Amino acid sequence: MELRKINTKDAYAQWEYTTALPADENGLTNQYHGVTFDEYLTRILPEMISYEHPVDMPDWFVPETYFYLWDGECLVGEFRIRHYLTDTLRNGAGHIGYSIRKDMRGRGYGTAGLKMTLEIARNIIPEEEVYLRVNKDNTASQKVMLKNGAWTAGEDEDHYFMRIPKQAAD
Ligand SMILES: CC(C)(COP(=O)(O)OP(=O)(O)OC[C@H]1O[C@@H](n2cnc3c(N)ncnc32)[C@H](O)[C@@H]1OP(=O)(O)O)[C@@H](O)C(=O)NCCC(=O)NCCS
Repeated sequence: MELRKINTKDAYAQWEYTTALPADENGLTNQYHGVTFDEYLTRILPEMISYEHPVDMPDWFVPETYFYLWDGECLVGEFRIRHYLTDTLRNGAGHIGYSIRKDMRGRGYGTAGLKMTLEIARNIIPEEEVYLRVNKDNTASQKVMLKNGAWTAGEDEDHYFMRIPKQAAD
């Protein structure tokens, strides 16, 4: 298993994943649902790559890096790291968002992928803890977080706010 940063060589597999990912599933939003391969190649892929080192973006925009989880030749999931917290992220989506291909869920990929993402995130983010948010009815994702050392730092009506100490990402 390997976590590979978004790139042009894997464009077709990344597009297949991105276009099929729902626009909103359990609060994980995807503005690129349903895009054509042509649109992906010419506009969206360069845009997604540029988010790591944003140019001409508004002040509130936090750099974000996309990674894909590969098992052999199969792209099984996506993991995004936002590089630091703003007030909105601290009280919202946090540092990391992820999803696993529908037909590959329940096989441990979410848990393994978050573990690998945390190893990268701990060298990027300045905060002492990695912040995550999960819908209260999303048991699978809660388990993925808990198995990676998360604790529940708070909640609102619909979500738990979880944190993983950076040391636990070892
Ligand atoms: C959440 C998600 C990433 C989990 O990925 P996954 O690869 O299925 O996770 P794992 O296989 O590592 O499973 C983790 C745990 O959840 C359990 N699980 C998996 N699917 C489940 C389901 N539908 N209901 C309840 N538990 C479930 C697994 O059994 C496992 O628990 P166990 O170790 O006690 O058996 C995946 O379901 C997904 O992509 N969901 C849509 C997007 C999303 O919700 N993203 C997270 C937003 S916070």
